[in-house]
Amino acid sequence: MFDQLQKIRQQAGELIPVVMDRQKLNEIRVRFLGKKGEVTRVLRSMGQLSPEERPRLGKKANEIRDYIENLLEQKLALILAREKEEHLQQETLDVTLPGRNIILGHRHPLTQIMNEIKEIFLGMGFEIVEGPEVELDYYNFEALNIPKDHPARDMQDSFYITPEILLRTHTSPVQARVYEARVPEIPVRIIAPGKVYRRDDDATHSPMFQQVEGFLIDRQVSLADLKGTLLAFVRQMFGPDREIRLRPSFFPFTEPSAEVDVSCIMCNGVGCRTCSHTGWLEILGSGMVHPRVLEIAGYDPEQVSGFAFGMGVERIAMLKYGIDDLRLFFENDLRFLKQF
Ligand code: PHE
Repeated sequence: MFDQLQKIRQQAGELIPVVMDRQKLNEIRVRFLGKKGEVTRVLRSMGQLSPEERPRLGKKANEIRDYIENLLEQKLALILAREKEEHLQQETLDVTLPGRNIILGHRHPLTQIMNEIKEIFLGMGFEIVEGPEVELDYYNFEALNIPKDHPARDMQDSFYITPEILLRTHTSPVQARVYEARVPEIPVRIIAPGKVYRRDDDATHSPMFQQVEGFLIDRQVSLADLKGTLLAFVRQMFGPDREIRLRPSFFPFTEPSAEVDVSCIMCNGVGCRTCSHTGWLEILGSGMVHPRVLEIAGYDPEQVSGFAFGMGVERIAMLKYGIDDLRLFFENDLRFLKQF
């Protein structure tokens, strides 16, 4: 058996150095060290030996197993290194290939419109102020001359958090907050952009949308100032040929109140499908700040007056781009968004 082991050692020592692929190497491992391998077989037949000889043979067999394992391991490392080298040599780098395009995104169309609106009013000397989206009933309604149970609340079915706290239904509460904070300072010349929430959901109404509130308080502010400011805005936004008209309307926090229309940007006021053949498109609500609202905040309505307006940003974007479904803005479909 000692001779047998010696022979195994010699054979392995000759075979392993000449093998140069992984599969053959594995076959050699199986042949010598596998479950039915030659070294294993010798160890199994140790029972035939005398008890004195057994440990000696066991020791020898272990030595030879270690020796073979060692050889196999070194060889495997060598083979792997060679494979890697070959792989690297085959890999070529073509430095003349064109580079990969980096796709640059751009701002969401609503953000673009919002930025345009802000720029126009900043250019006219307005200041930007933001208010909370989770608002007190007091600022959203009461301070704007809309008492509890006033029918005007029905127009703006709301998301209440508690009976006194809700998601604001318009940006007008920023008026109330600013008046309260700045009284008796004049002039106040502010726009308040931001998100508002209502229980509406269809092609032209989303439960979340954006508004820009604008308001100006000073001595002797008139309806002419409101109209002039809005005309200047509309012409910068929609083009120098646009006209506007004011239609009587009602808001509890303005008196008088007016709905503002812009001459249709599709047909130039002639009449088409977009403007339902009227020549006009409604873009915002406005009016002279109600004396009651000024009074609640602490201003003296005999001394100062002001105008206010509120426009829907999505609506402006739909008119400017001729989009008929508001939901497109919120679906994040790149085929839509990439057009702007
Ligand atoms: N807050 C009103 C709305 O959301 C719009 C508005 C603002 C009207 C300011 C008049 C003055 O419908």
